[in-house]
Amino acid sequence: MTPSAKPPRSLTAIVLAAGKGTRMRSDLPKVLHRIAGRTMLGHVLAAVQAAGAGRIAVVAEPGREDVAAEIAREAPGAQVFPQAERLGTAHAVLAARAVLEAPDEDVVIAFGDTPLISAETFLRLRAPLAEGAAVAVLAFESPTPTGYGRVLTEGSRVLAIREEKDASAAERAVTLCNAGLMALSGQHALTLLGRIGNDNAAGEYYLPDAVALAVAEGLSVTVVPVDEAEAQGVNDRVQLAVAEGAIQARLRRSAMLGGATLIAPETVFLSHDTILGRDVVVEPHVVFGPGVRVGDGCTVRAFAHLTDTSLEASVKIGPFVRLRGHAVLETGAELGNFVELKNARMGPGAKAAHLTYLGDAEIGAKANIGAGTITCNYDGVLKHRTTIGAGAFIGSNSALVAPVTVGEGAYVASGSVITDDVPADAMAVARGRQAVKPGWAKLKRAALLAEKALRGGR
Ligand code: UD1
Ligand code: MG
Repeated sequence: MTPSAKPPRSLTAIVLAAGKGTRMRSDLPKVLHRIAGRTMLGHVLAAVQAAGAGRIAVVAEPGREDVAAEIAREAPGAQVFPQAERLGTAHAVLAARAVLEAPDEDVVIAFGDTPLISAETFLRLRAPLAEGAAVAVLAFESPTPTGYGRVLTEGSRVLAIREEKDASAAERAVTLCNAGLMALSGQHALTLLGRIGNDNAAGEYYLPDAVALAVAEGLSVTVVPVDEAEAQGVNDRVQLAVAEGAIQARLRRSAMLGGATLIAPETVFLSHDTILGRDVVVEPHVVFGPGVRVGDGCTVRAFAHLTDTSLEASVKIGPFVRLRGHAVLETGAELGNFVELKNARMGPGAKAAHLTYLGDAEIGAKANIGAGTITCNYDGVLKHRTTIGAGAFIGSNSALVAPVTVGEGAYVASGSVITDDVPADAMAVARGRQAVKPGWAKLKRAALLAEKALRGGR
């Protein structure tokens, strides 16, 4: 650092998350609805953390333990401030007054129901503060501005933000819209917010009024542009689906730029935390739920559904597989069509090519699991483990009744119901013996045909 350089100012984020979101028609608070496997609140908290916010305050409806738990999960250091009455966005920010008392900090205000704002946009919003602005507002041009607050300007100067309800006809014709998010210099934040009144059409304390108050004080206010699509809020399930689409597009793009081939990207659904390695190929119609990591060189064939799963390198799965509940496939393992794994690990090079359920199971390296193998892991009350040793061969249509162990290199004969452990290198057969009766079918057929003739051919 050169002697003249100022130390970087730290960043405080205040996330407004009070309110039920009645138009969602839901028992769940609006900010807990999920997009790409993460709550909207989680997306916002992730973005402000990625933007470097050292201090995070979330303003929430009091007594919502589910919201508090989500905050603790997504931003463990965040403080939660209750806002008992929803008296407006400025009132909400002031609920977090305790974090506004540090004049050397920059403050960004985020909305819990505006989940598409990226960390980069929060940084752009904050940047003018370092140049001396007291307030920066995020704004977008919209051909359909109805409902938004309008940013009123004179030349390049910002004058005020007018809410739709309070706007004159001329002001309603303005197409520059307030995205709602704002950055405030810590030096001025409390003074400006403290002066905001509620003498307006809604009788609410409007955060955007900070703009006109700053202008009146001769402070500098900057408009930071953003795409309308990124500024989209979510108020109902239709907008939730639009936001899902936007986040999926981002996730697919970053997966592809990271070296994964998505043959039909619009049919592949990713989670916020999906990790796809280099030279992964994903065929059409695949769903990645939360907690999936796919190693380099893996192939995921069509119609796979994966959650809480880890594929090491060069694994091939599908089509039509379901992996969940902590499934792990080590290098070179393969699963074919209609195979389900739950809480199961396949060792390196192990294979289950068709129609199989492996639950609570450990499969050794290079073991071969025949078509139609089922681990019977549940006795109606408890779950039990199945262990299959390296190089073992499980014949088709076998049921392995857990708890049970099949040793290394052992064979299980096709169609067996295995209830006792099988030692290494042994062969177990557990089925009825075959009986063959020479000529029986021919005699039977002749008898049946004679019977039919007696009945007149019917
Ligand atoms: C707000 C802006 C408007 C902007 C629009 C962009 C104000 C007064 N208006 O309007 O200029 O164009 O966003 O979408 O800010 N909240 C609380 N407590 C409250 C009030 C709100 O926590 O007392 C939270 C809400 O949960 C929400 C956010 O603040 O996350 C915005 O509130 P909302 O009522 O949606 O404001 P808008 O009318 O959309
Ligand atoms: Mg809104």
